[in-house]
Amino acid sequence: MCGIMGYIGDKPSERILLEGLKKLEYRGYDSAGIAVCTEQGMKVVKTKGRIAELEKLLQKQPLPSGAVGIGHTRWATHGKPSDLNSHPHTDTHKQISVVHNGIIENYLELKEELAAQGARFVSETDTEVISHLIASYDEGDIVRAVQQAAKRLRGAFAIAVLSEREPEKLVAVRQHSPLIIGLGEGEHFIGSDIPAILEHTRDVYILDDGEMAVLTRDGVDLMTTCGDPVTKQQFRVNWDLAVAEKAGFDHFMLKEIHDQPQAYRDTLSGRLFKGYPWVYLPELKLTPEKLRQFRNVHIVACGTAYHAGLVGKQAIERWARLPVEAEVASEYRYRSPLLTPETLVIVVSQSGETADTLAALREAKRHGAHVVAITNVVGSTVAREADDVLFTWAGPEISVASTKAYSTQLLAFYAFALHLARVRDTLPDEEIGPIVLALSRLPDQVASILERAEEIRSYAEEIAGHEHLFFIGRGMDYAVAQEGSLKLKEISYIHSEAYAAGELKHGTLALIEEGTPVVALATQPELYEKTVSNIREVMARGASVFGIASENTVDLASRVDRILLLPSTHPMISPALSVIPLQLLAYYASVARGFDVDKPRNLAKSVTVE
Ligand code: F6R
Repeated sequence: MCGIMGYIGDKPSERILLEGLKKLEYRGYDSAGIAVCTEQGMKVVKTKGRIAELEKLLQKQPLPSGAVGIGHTRWATHGKPSDLNSHPHTDTHKQISVVHNGIIENYLELKEELAAQGARFVSETDTEVISHLIASYDEGDIVRAVQQAAKRLRGAFAIAVLSEREPEKLVAVRQHSPLIIGLGEGEHFIGSDIPAILEHTRDVYILDDGEMAVLTRDGVDLMTTCGDPVTKQQFRVNWDLAVAEKAGFDHFMLKEIHDQPQAYRDTLSGRLFKGYPWVYLPELKLTPEKLRQFRNVHIVACGTAYHAGLVGKQAIERWARLPVEAEVASEYRYRSPLLTPETLVIVVSQSGETADTLAALREAKRHGAHVVAITNVVGSTVAREADDVLFTWAGPEISVASTKAYSTQLLAFYAFALHLARVRDTLPDEEIGPIVLALSRLPDQVASILERAEEIRSYAEEIAGHEHLFFIGRGMDYAVAQEGSLKLKEISYIHSEAYAAGELKHGTLALIEEGTPVVALATQPELYEKTVSNIREVMARGASVFGIASENTVDLASRVDRILLLPSTHPMISPALSVIPLQLLAYYASVARGFDVDKPRNLAKSVTVE
């Protein structure tokens, strides 16, 4: 995720900005830059690559000193990682600089409007519209210009703004993307996260959505973007740097699990509408005519990404009525798959660099198939080589065990399957409406599940002493069970298997004995009674069952040893909720067993070898 740092005071800002950005490095980025107001005007230095590259550049072309500046580390979203796409971005006259975290949904329409007024755009980013937009309103009052611009922006943004004409001010705005203001003595700071400013101060204001701050050396004025004054409590940070990097969580994995409500919002943002056209995927080059020509779909991926594909398969088959095969990439590429130009191949990869997935992508293209990639990393090899890309806006995932990447891959699949269904006319509006509504409710529902983490922790502590565990479910629940099982194995080293609940009795039931822990998912109304029968089968053999069901199936509570009821949703969407307790279960089991959660043994975050 991108990082923001801003400084106003009496010290040279360059070093303060660079040091602050370095504290945000752990979040992942692909380019970096700073803008400083100096005696010779505003200077911007930025580059693709690490902060070390930026430092080298600054050594070669030293900046005149300046005590006001903004800095940024970019994680590419709109536009590949490049010098030009790096932040800060300026207006045509290079008098206003902006750094931005988040996504501007209406940037294309604003870009068109501003270009027609003469603004010269030099990057592919959505951010550049912000600097031009502010400039278009700037009549000598930067605060007012930012307020007017903020009213026009749709989407998520945390921005810091510097104006050459008013170098005694820094302006910061928050809308759906975090931003804090650090309070010092004769100096003040802007940070997208606490670690950036912790070296200088522990006293901060945490901005809320729709709020802005105007920083001078002498003070900080808080107001809404409409200009109404805001009063708020200062917050005293009492964490150390290591804890602050994880936003106060003990591990990156737990932080990333808790990032999911925001990651869901970001991934759905600008793609879903509560009315026609319901789903809008402007990034797809595939025309409706071409989409109608496909006869079958192959989904190819590895590990967790493959498990997302299992959910995607069911969504596409059910909604768009196309036959779908989902397969792990390491098998797919060697079995001479039946590919034609009428086959749509969807590859899924968080990193976009997994060797097996890339090889499958190349194999598919060699046979003339059209490849759509679902990935989290702009500029990754998969993103560059696929014919079309749907990005998941999960932000960088640092923990080896994938959590928010998986769940946002599900959302990308839901959006794509609905789009395909609409184009193929296989799903009436009366059915699309409730699905879109269910998707829009997910972020809040995930947040409500996260509030109940303690219930899962106590179950995790109970199973921590076991060496084997089973996950069972049918349909969508079986797909999620496979992800839950992988997560548990990966970080707690407890052996587990995921079974289609109806298949147990064909052999595996022999392994169930007194006290065997079984996690049973029963969120699917159509399959509920059948799953309950399978739960009875394992309980009759002594299994201890933890049930996960929807809140409208309360009667399960009396039939199992423990239960977690999830907020009710559309059955096809339930994996996006039911995976949350499974991630927490794996996490707390690993903690209870004393393992290194974020770096499990034998595993790497990105598998670039076959
Ligand atoms: C498990 C996990 C792996 C990855 C797999 C594919 O938590 O992260 O199973 O899903 O190695 O990686 P990507 O998605 O980067 O292609």
